[in-house]
Amino acid sequence: MSSSPTRWPAGAVVTGAGRGLGRQIATMLVERGHHVLVTDVDGAAATETAAALGSLATAMTVDVRDESQVLAARDRIVEVAGRLDVWVNNAGVLVTGPPWEHDEATRRLMLEVNALGTMNGTLAAVGAMRRGSGGGHIINIASLAGITAVPGEGVYSASKHAVMGFSLSTMADLRAAKVKDVHISCICPDGIWTPMLHDKLDDPGAALSFSGKLLQPHEVVTAVGKVLDEPRLVTALPRWRGAVVRFGDLFPALGLALTPFVVRQGERTQRRMRKQQQGRRRLGRG
Ligand SMILES: NC(=O)c1ccc[n+]([C@@H]2O[C@H](COP(=O)([O-])OP(=O)(O)OC[C@H]3O[C@@H](n4cnc5c(N)ncnc54)[C@H](O)[C@@H]3O)[C@@H](O)[C@H]2O)c1
Repeated sequence: MSSSPTRWPAGAVVTGAGRGLGRQIATMLVERGHHVLVTDVDGAAATETAAALGSLATAMTVDVRDESQVLAARDRIVEVAGRLDVWVNNAGVLVTGPPWEHDEATRRLMLEVNALGTMNGTLAAVGAMRRGSGGGHIINIASLAGITAVPGEGVYSASKHAVMGFSLSTMADLRAAKVKDVHISCICPDGIWTPMLHDKLDDPGAALSFSGKLLQPHEVVTAVGKVLDEPRLVTALPRWRGAVVRFGDLFPALGLALTPFVVRQGERTQRRMRKQQQGRRRLGRG
């Protein structure tokens, strides 16, 4: 692991790293001494991020839905850095609204980017980490939506549940196959103030994302750094919200009955933040 004093930080890949959380995770990995392959379906954003990170970063256009592109990213980092140490499956998309309002293409988009993309990345990384010396660490950015129901984000929630089921099952398969030096850690954050939510302050479908503690990206990056030092199967952020949603999962009928109150809390936060944003705009500050 990267925490081991005998191991030097080698190559790392971050998907969806052109902006938002992925960009900040890539920054943290460069600061830890990794050579980072900054990948994104938006090639210009990946190039801009890698340029800002300096000589320890390389950009590559990668659509995580396409296994051949993901495998090419894996081969590229091994070529550039000698070995793959860390792979972060971060790319994600969120389209809100009740599922019956989505067309098939929208359902497919969320499932393919969030779930299939994470599977493609995990399997590419497992291949390289088993072959190479010293194993490695795969970080899968899931969501609290991956461990509980989220009205307004039903398809997204389904895609993140798939991430959790796949990650934990694959870890069990690795251990059953006596592979002890490849780790998978899932991070399940509450809403994070990134471009994914920036345009959703007046979106009722996104209210649940604003109903708890709206995280700043650096708080999630700190949690990723901690699990890099000490692999952990599931990290809910903040921890208390993880406990609350798991309690709700134990009593689904109660969880359903309480949902409207939680939605109203989220709508209040959206309203407050909208007003603050309008105030800042009036003052010409954003
Ligand atoms: N923002 C939140 O509230 C929140 C909460 C919990 C979990 N997450 C998860 O965190 C991760 C990062 O999200 P974010 O908030 O930074 O969102 P974001 O929208 O700011 O960034 C997502 C990035 O993924 C890229 N991407 C989209 N489709 C892709 C594809 N097919 N292939 C490769 N890259 C693709 C985008 O170009 C973008 O750069 C996602 O997995 C998201 O589901 C976000």
